[in-house]
Amino acid sequence: MSQQTKATPEPDRSSGDGNAKTPSLMTAVVQRRFGTADVLQLEEIPVPEPDEGQVLVEVEAASLNALDWHFVSGTPYFIRMVAGLRTPKRKTPGADVAGTVVQVGPGVSGFNAGDAVFGEIKGGSCAPFVAADVKGLVLKPSSVSFEDAAAVPVAGLTALQALRTHADLQSGERVLINGAAGGVGTMAVQIAKAMGAHVTGVCSTRNVEMVRSIGADRVIDYTTDDFVSRGPRFDVMLDNVGNRTTDECLSVLTPDARYVQTSGPKDNRWYGPMLSIGLRALRFRRASQSFHQFTAEPNHDDMIHLGRLLESGLLVPQIQQTIDLSGVPDAVKEISGGHTRAKIVVKPS
Ligand SMILES: NC(=O)c1ccc[n+]([C@@H]2O[C@H](COP(=O)([O-])OP(=O)(O)OC[C@H]3O[C@@H](n4cnc5c(N)ncnc54)[C@H](OP(=O)(O)O)[C@@H]3O)[C@@H](O)[C@H]2O)c1
Repeated sequence: MSQQTKATPEPDRSSGDGNAKTPSLMTAVVQRRFGTADVLQLEEIPVPEPDEGQVLVEVEAASLNALDWHFVSGTPYFIRMVAGLRTPKRKTPGADVAGTVVQVGPGVSGFNAGDAVFGEIKGGSCAPFVAADVKGLVLKPSSVSFEDAAAVPVAGLTALQALRTHADLQSGERVLINGAAGGVGTMAVQIAKAMGAHVTGVCSTRNVEMVRSIGADRVIDYTTDDFVSRGPRFDVMLDNVGNRTTDECLSVLTPDARYVQTSGPKDNRWYGPMLSIGLRALRFRRASQSFHQFTAEPNHDDMIHLGRLLESGLLVPQIQQTIDLSGVPDAVKEISGGHTRAKIVVKPS
């Protein structure tokens, strides 16, 4: 597993509009239908033009998330309201991007050709170029590598918004992170430590050392131990798995605790975890602890905060592998299994 990747000098495209160096065609990962990861193929497609509020980014690195699998498979089916009813609207996966602005679209201020940026976009980063909405992008700190920056946006925003916005985690509080070894979990362990919390992480045997190495004060191996049954002791629970009953979760929470759920059981192909999340929210109404469920949204303040954590070394993305575009189908297949370790980074060239 790689630790912090050394930043490489950024290409200087600041002179000229960058457009002259941009080809008209590129080889990208493309899906023409919903299905298993095998629907992903390398195809030659036009380099996109940036629309209103967008910039064209030359992708230096991207990273994959569980959401890429949902957009590839089109499951649970309710996501087709945004993903496309019969055929995918989002033809190229990848919501995390780090790269260099090569063209600025209409109505954009604050970004120039040559800027190194990173952020969360609406898909398309598994390609050499992507047209990206600027509302999810910020300037990349120069000391941070493109690979580290690309590993952060979706998982980092989810962890930060769970712990800071929803749980209002305070220094000295005790936080339990169920699912500490995935993309969100590894960001959450480090962000919670940076906020001064005492962190307990839950993962399987093969990930115990990794979760400890990124700062968890205590690691519970769920294959041999159980975080339930030792009484109320956590002020915050961040649940990235949703595999325990509501009463089991309540049993480990102090009376004023906050329970934040990012995920739940995914066995229903129509509505995924929505029913179980709804029932859990109802049960929490009869409890003193608060319930929070949310979908992370990109915003500049949170992205800048994540950039500062990266710059300071308080957040070091755990990159389990770096692949090229041809490795994306296998990586998406791995993600569909629900046991990805930390982050997979994609380098388009
Ligand atoms: N609400 C939102 O806005 C939002 C945003 C991003 C992600 N999500 C959701 O949050 C979840 C986590 O995302 P992610 O990117 O971290 O996924 P991920 O990278 O695929 O990681 C999943 C992790 O879950 C762990 N896990 C699986 N079963 C477990 C169990 N029984 N107990 C404890 N840990 C277990 C795995 O660790 P082991 O291999 O050690 O079991 C794995 O590392 C996904 O379901 C995703 O869809 C929600």
